[in-house]
Amino acid sequence: MEDADYIIIGSPIYFGEVTAQTKLFTDRFYSIYNNKNRNVDGKKVILIYTQGNPDAKVYEEYTKNQKAFLYDFMNFDVVNTLIAAGIHSKEDLNQKNEILKEAENIAMRIT
Ligand SMILES: Cc1cc2nc3c(=O)[nH]c(=O)nc-3n(C[C@H](O)[C@H](O)[C@H](O)COP(=O)(O)O)c2cc1C
Repeated sequence: MEDADYIIIGSPIYFGEVTAQTKLFTDRFYSIYNNKNRNVDGKKVILIYTQGNPDAKVYEEYTKNQKAFLYDFMNFDVVNTLIAAGIHSKEDLNQKNEILKEAENIAMRIT
């Protein structure tokens, strides 16, 4: 993570939250937080979440809290959050050109 220019975290939304596996990973940030020699301040983060619900704003409060309590706490810089809404399968995604375009735009901005 120290060496990375960007950290990209992708997760489906399960019962209104990231998956247990994603949470397991981000919970380990605490050991980084407690490391006096940590070298990840200002690290750029891109979040990509897929969800079945077609309303991309339905979990806005959750992502806002997660940003405050996890990413801001870690002094990470969440530069983009892509919500891929209405996705139940890979095939759904292939039909959502606006989401694919947004992902492409985010990728193009990676420097
Ligand atoms: C256990 C489980 C819980 C889910 N909970 C939600 C949910 O709370 N809100 C939502 O919009 N979609 C929910 N979904 C749908 C998934 O977020 C969506 O289909 C996602 O794209 C699945 O990604 P995956 O195939 O990698 O699991 C859930 C799916 C599963 C399997």
